[in-house]
Amino acid sequence: MALRFEVLGRFNRARAAQLTLPHFACQTPLFMPVGTQGTIKGLTTDQLEEIGCQIILGNTYHLALRPTSELIDELGGLHKFMNWPRALLTDSGGFQMVSLLHLADITEKGVTFQNRIGADIIMALDDVVRTTITGPRIEEAMYRTLRWVDRCIAAHKRPHEQNLFGIVQGGLDPVLRDICVRGLVDRNLPGYAIGGLAGGEDKDSFWRVVAQCTAALPEDKPRYVMGVGYPLDIVVCSALGADMYDCVYPTRTARFGTALVPEGVLKLKHNAMVNDTRPIDPTCACMVCKNYTRAYIHCLVTKDAMGSQLLSYHNLYYMLQFPKGDVPEWVCNAMDVAGIDISSCCSS
Ligand code: GUN
Ligand code: ZN
Repeated sequence: MALRFEVLGRFNRARAAQLTLPHFACQTPLFMPVGTQGTIKGLTTDQLEEIGCQIILGNTYHLALRPTSELIDELGGLHKFMNWPRALLTDSGGFQMVSLLHLADITEKGVTFQNRIGADIIMALDDVVRTTITGPRIEEAMYRTLRWVDRCIAAHKRPHEQNLFGIVQGGLDPVLRDICVRGLVDRNLPGYAIGGLAGGEDKDSFWRVVAQCTAALPEDKPRYVMGVGYPLDIVVCSALGADMYDCVYPTRTARFGTALVPEGVLKLKHNAMVNDTRPIDPTCACMVCKNYTRAYIHCLVTKDAMGSQLLSYHNLYYMLQFPKGDVPEWVCNAMDVAGIDISSCCSS
């Protein structure tokens, strides 16, 4: 195992912890920005440090194609290649690779790629099925995920430098999720992810799966909910005892001209912004809010790369500060509207 996980405080099922990885000691709950080609579009690694980013997610699939994992390895690993001193996590990207490589050796190859890339956390290859699908395909994918994790464990060459996390699959079926969680816990991995969510299922089904999995996963290991998410989802999952999240939302929505603010979202493309001299969020302490007006960003957005760069900077700052602050009022209201009552499962 190449990590230490120390719970520093608890509130019902929620916890705050220090996750010490080979390249950085992270405070959880944490949000991981998603970088595809070894970069978070439009931000330098200095800027990422400046806004408090502790760990970045990279996609093995994209890096394996270009510049290739062999070249990254030859040039000293991804940390050095992209000039990022803090923690990195690589997702196996099995979903996309399955269609590209031969199924028979994909599992071992995925781990070999990730060993070469050198991230602090590497994800086991899983078979991802959308939660909106039902029937035997869900069960097949869950058992395949368990078989693949054993091949990943066997192929993992650097267990003292990189942490292999297993991924719980099983769709919305509590029986399948239970088999998968138990199977993974038996394998005594350094951390666990809850996968296959945020794929269009309703909020109620979503949080029930998270509640079930977090309750069954070990207390002394990190829990990562993959592909999540929105501020609301992060609040709910953290209340249920999850620690880590990743999502393309803050950077993707920035490219469409949307800023995340304590009241919800602000559309910078809107005509009302033309002569608005206020910052994106007057309560935000980020570089963008200190230096630029809504009018200026409105002018740039969709016209110049600087527009989405400034918005990405602010949005990531917002998401990275989010777990440290109070729950915004609109999140509490949205939980009421969605009928999400965390207290009902906190006692269990
Ligand atoms: N990203 C979001 N959801 C998933 C998942 O279920 N598996 C993997 N590997 N990556 C994800
Ligand atoms: Zn800001």
